[in-house]
Amino acid sequence: MAPFSLTTYDEVRPKARIIAEVTRKRAMPPWQPVAGFAHFAGERRLSAAQIRTLELWSAAGAPEGDPKTLQVFPTFPDEWQLGKPDLVVEVPEPMEVPADGPDIYQCFVVPMEVPRTRYVRAVEFRPSNRRVVHHALLFADASRIGKDPKYPCFGTIGLLPSLGLGGWSPGNGPIRMLDGAAPPLQAGSRLVAQVHYHPDGKPEMDKWKVGFYFTDEAPVRRVVDVGLATRAIDIAAGDAHYVVRQHFTIPIAVDAVGVIPHAHLVCREMRAWAILPGGRKQWLLNIADWNFNWQDQYRYATPIRLPADTRIEMEFVYDNSTANPRNPHSPPQRVVWGPGTDDEMAGIHVQSIPVHMEELPELGRALWGAVMRSVGGRFYTPPE
Ligand code: HEM
Repeated sequence: MAPFSLTTYDEVRPKARIIAEVTRKRAMPPWQPVAGFAHFAGERRLSAAQIRTLELWSAAGAPEGDPKTLQVFPTFPDEWQLGKPDLVVEVPEPMEVPADGPDIYQCFVVPMEVPRTRYVRAVEFRPSNRRVVHHALLFADASRIGKDPKYPCFGTIGLLPSLGLGGWSPGNGPIRMLDGAAPPLQAGSRLVAQVHYHPDGKPEMDKWKVGFYFTDEAPVRRVVDVGLATRAIDIAAGDAHYVVRQHFTIPIAVDAVGVIPHAHLVCREMRAWAILPGGRKQWLLNIADWNFNWQDQYRYATPIRLPADTRIEMEFVYDNSTANPRNPHSPPQRVVWGPGTDDEMAGIHVQSIPVHMEELPELGRALWGAVMRSVGGRFYTPPE
């Protein structure tokens, strides 16, 4: 879905100047977390030396290197990257994406052939048309609540899923679950996919598929979503620095394995860290220039151990002034919490594995308490 390919010298040479520019600004390759805070697997970031090399090469007239030292460009398999899936779920009707107009956030609810509970080892999302698919988030829904097979859904998917199955954005391959933590996909579950389509100038079609890989090994560990969120968002028109904070103290020791942040268009900065019981600060995420269009799910390079009584804190900053190029309103308007395009949200999901699985219910109770307080947060502030 990038506007052009950069895999041969002939493709790259005419773009040398813009390549030097977008890499210098760190707009490309797209990667939001700031270097040096938390370390993630698969960071798409160039080093200062690499950026300098591109700059010097462009300034020198983009010379071709010695063909003898040419590295063979990796080939990307056209088929499923992990071999034949155990189950393939395909959207029944192709999605029609018009030539232009606003981005489309479409939710699809697709039945799956899951006659008995299966444990999910890996999932791969494959759009048929990568030019228009910006990202996809996948969930399972085990409820029998009627739902349209297709509905618009910006922000949230509009139902409480029974399982999060990860997602896809350009450059991502299959999602592999952590060893010993294959989550159960309940019998009769439906797949809910939120797909973000980006019109590319001509009418397009996409018919995506999802491949599931199962294992018979029941999980011995569980990844728990430690979610921090708040609905207390009310940003005056023109306010260039509106700060939202939230915190949560984990009652048990966990290993944080990943983090998923979420906000909409006027959010600019996202920070999350943990204060360990001894007072040490451990960064979990730092995004200095949030861009809704490049949202991702981040997995830590190595799990971060958070002992019992660690306090997780988040701080999001919103710019609802004309200085924010991504402000959807001109002139700016008041923005409040809500699921719509023009509303805002603030959430951090720290994917955590309890160190002692038998303590899981204690974490569950604490999380439930936090949800209750956040829903009632406008009316009731608990004592610290
Ligand atoms: C060092 C690696 C990369 C270079 C040198 C590069 C270069 C560029 C350039 C020159 C543009 C056009 C910018 C403009 O016209 O203003 C661009 C746009 C774009 N690139 Fe890259 N790119 C890189 C990596 C990537 C990766 C890894 C992805 C996908 C994961 C990607 C996705 C896009 C997209 C979607 C656009 C369209 C503009 C946007 O949506 O922000 N690029 N890139």
